[in-house]
Amino acid sequence: MTRKFFVGGNWKMNGDKKSLGELIQTMNGGKVDSNVEVVCGAPSIYLDFVRSKLDSKFGVAAQNCYKVPKGAFTGEISPAMIKDCGVNWVILGHSERRHVFGENDELIGQKTAHALENGLGVIACIGEKLDEREGGITEKVVFAQTKVIADNVKDWSKVVLAYEPVWAIGTGKTASPQSVLCWVRHFFSSGSVTGATCKELASQKDVDGFLVGGASLKPEFIDIINAKA
Ligand code: G3P
Repeated sequence: MTRKFFVGGNWKMNGDKKSLGELIQTMNGGKVDSNVEVVCGAPSIYLDFVRSKLDSKFGVAAQNCYKVPKGAFTGEISPAMIKDCGVNWVILGHSERRHVFGENDELIGQKTAHALENGLGVIACIGEKLDEREGGITEKVVFAQTKVIADNVKDWSKVVLAYEPVWAIGTGKTASPQSVLCWVRHFFSSGSVTGATCKELASQKDVDGFLVGGASLKPEFIDIINAKA
């Protein structure tokens, strides 16, 4: 299967209609490499807004969803609701969901299965924390996370596996993902990708794309999208 370079922007809990509207205008007006798939992870309350404004050449993702279709789950959203907003992707298992909100591998696996069954593409995140890296258990942790996701995937064409070493997120530091990526094949990497580091990272063997946090909220996101061009 040929792999298309993939750039995800994860806006996390940032922005408002004004600032996101401006970012969207910049993105819509930017020249974008047609060989790259771009998906922006918007806050759930703005999914409708973002989907209605962002050019259709860009995909939109929710940043989370729940594992069942509906019911008494205050604060949660379902894959069906996401699709109802015209949005076709969801980010699952992000380290902030795992470590700030206490989501475990099992829940992430269940969410993955439910999202895929309901026709969403899934950006599934994996990655070790600093103490795990220093304790020499990076591969064990990442393997366990990957296995639970893999056990819940029947069709990999709708899945992007994002390796994000937790210790690099939000630091502005770029991780060297090679040692992990060489065995987590057909998957993709991130740390803090920036306009300045994206070209070098994109040229690395086994790097199939990025999941970008902070820099995806800035005009330099266009440079990151075009890192392969
Ligand atoms: O999901 C993207 C992410 O967590 C990386 O964030 O700000 O380090 O690019 P950042």
